[in-house]
Amino acid sequence: MSEKRVLLIIGGGIAAYKSLELIRLLAKAGVASRAILTKAGAHFVTPLSVGALTGDRVYQDLFDLTDEAEMGHIELSRSADVVVVAPATADLMAKAAAGLANDLASTALLATDKPVLMAPAMNVRMWEHAATKRNVARLREDGVQFVGPDHGAMACGEFGDGRMAEPEAIAGAVLALLGDGPLKGRHALVTAGPTLEAIDPVRFISNRSSGKQGYAIAAALADLGAAVTLVSGPTGLPNPRGVTRVSVESARDMLAACEAALPADVAICVAAVADWRPAQTADEKIKKDKQGVEAVALVENPDILATLSRPGKKRPKLVVGFAAETTDVEAHARAKIAKKGCDWIVANDVSGDVMGGADNEVLLMTKDSAEAWPRMSKEAVARRLASAVAASLHASERKRR
Ligand code: C5P
Repeated sequence: MSEKRVLLIIGGGIAAYKSLELIRLLAKAGVASRAILTKAGAHFVTPLSVGALTGDRVYQDLFDLTDEAEMGHIELSRSADVVVVAPATADLMAKAAAGLANDLASTALLATDKPVLMAPAMNVRMWEHAATKRNVARLREDGVQFVGPDHGAMACGEFGDGRMAEPEAIAGAVLALLGDGPLKGRHALVTAGPTLEAIDPVRFISNRSSGKQGYAIAAALADLGAAVTLVSGPTGLPNPRGVTRVSVESARDMLAACEAALPADVAICVAAVADWRPAQTADEKIKKDKQGVEAVALVENPDILATLSRPGKKRPKLVVGFAAETTDVEAHARAKIAKKGCDWIVANDVSGDVMGGADNEVLLMTKDSAEAWPRMSKEAVARRLASAVAASLHASERKRR
């Protein structure tokens, strides 16, 4: 197989130093890099260090005649399997969204016929600005993929979304785009969102789950190369890239969709399944004067996690559940593994603003260990969980050999 290649566009941001590490990580995974360094980028890293790591010349100027004689900018933009922009500055994204081509980086982005992956990095206010949001939405529509940004402290002293994703995460996304992630050839099943249990044609029982954590997990698994089926209750979230979504409403439909999606190597149940449903769904809208209490007698819903965990030929090798607790998180998580028959529980303390919020602070409980993770974004929790899943599936494979 010929060597895989990345065209790496290094924009002007303090995170540019992380791109040097990215080049190294990709090389370790057998992926060669060729770099375009923007004028602004060259203020943060030197062509000499970039070139030393890529083992190639570094392309900087659109009108450098030697460049054109050796390799035209059109050819340069297509000489790789994937184009990666890291750091993707607000300026580079704005140019790409508008289709401008007034320097080598923007021209390469306009001329390429290869998948483009961007790792945004900027100040939180710039990331949250309506103009940037518009540009990101347009780029997504144009098929550009994104990794990050992460949440945390920034070089400028502020705090929020805008830190460039870590080099490991970018390398993972690149490998997945090349069809080469550690979960390549695996099927992952994820449940997410609330369920909706109809009382009559207009009323229902549901809950406040946003689906964010489950969707982030589905995306992170896909980034590592897994084929992902996301069985989702009603949410307002877009379909994560590279994920097959099956939309359902009730718990019973969710269970049926999960069983239809088997076999899977791993199942991660993140959905906030309604514990109860109306014993009967009325065909007509129930009248206000009718005995309301009687009309909504409740029965218990099936437990999807427990059902998927039951021993049998179709049981996924790894079944993971979530537990939202407000007290004694560790003890409850341990009890939940036993009760549901699953392998791991990701337990979170929901006494704060976790439901619907951007961050999560979890404890990963396995049959023989408990690991408390620091507070981080739901995307970061998802990536770390996806890596743990990949490591566990590889380990169990080695044991069986
Ligand atoms: O029992 P509890 O609702 O606390 O368990 C939470 C875990 O079980 C989550 O992983 C959730 O997705 C899963 N669950 C399920 N089906 C149910 C109830 C919970 O899959 N009916």
